[in-house]
Amino acid sequence: MAGNRTFTMIKPDATGAGHTGKIIDKIIDAGFSIKAMKWAQLSKAQAQEFYVVHSERPFYGELVEYMTSAPIVAAILEKDNAVEDFRTLIGATNPAEAAEGTIRKMFATSIAANAVHGSDSDDNAKIEGEFHFASTEVTA
Ligand code: CMP
Repeated sequence: MAGNRTFTMIKPDATGAGHTGKIIDKIIDAGFSIKAMKWAQLSKAQAQEFYVVHSERPFYGELVEYMTSAPIVAAILEKDNAVEDFRTLIGATNPAEAAEGTIRKMFATSIAANAVHGSDSDDNAKIEGEFHFASTEVTA
């Protein structure tokens, strides 16, 4: 059965360009409720750990540098079928391939600076949410 929570980050390109509020509006308009949210600056160690699954990829260094270049907004979101529905809402990783109306089509500038992160599985949604939030920071 599909889980009902996912994890997202609004990335430095989008926070820096002033798109945070518009992106949160789109998330809420799509039927997600916010269970936890924070504005934060990732350290290099945090970004390396969060993206450790990509540590062998050629873009890992660039990814870590980019994710620490400005603040991010981290959030846990709830909705039926959350992981899949959120990935539909944000669109393809590469904004050039993202569908019209998706968050990445509207706000992303490149495959690296792609505006938002969305968990790719229920297991990763749990891991990523727990990476950024203590249980006391997450509402019921
Ligand atoms: P995200 O969904 O946060 O998960 C991993 C991130 O790596 C991805 O979004 C992109 O921002 C980034 N990424 C993936 N492929 C590339 C690439 N070819 N070059 C640079 N960054 C990439």
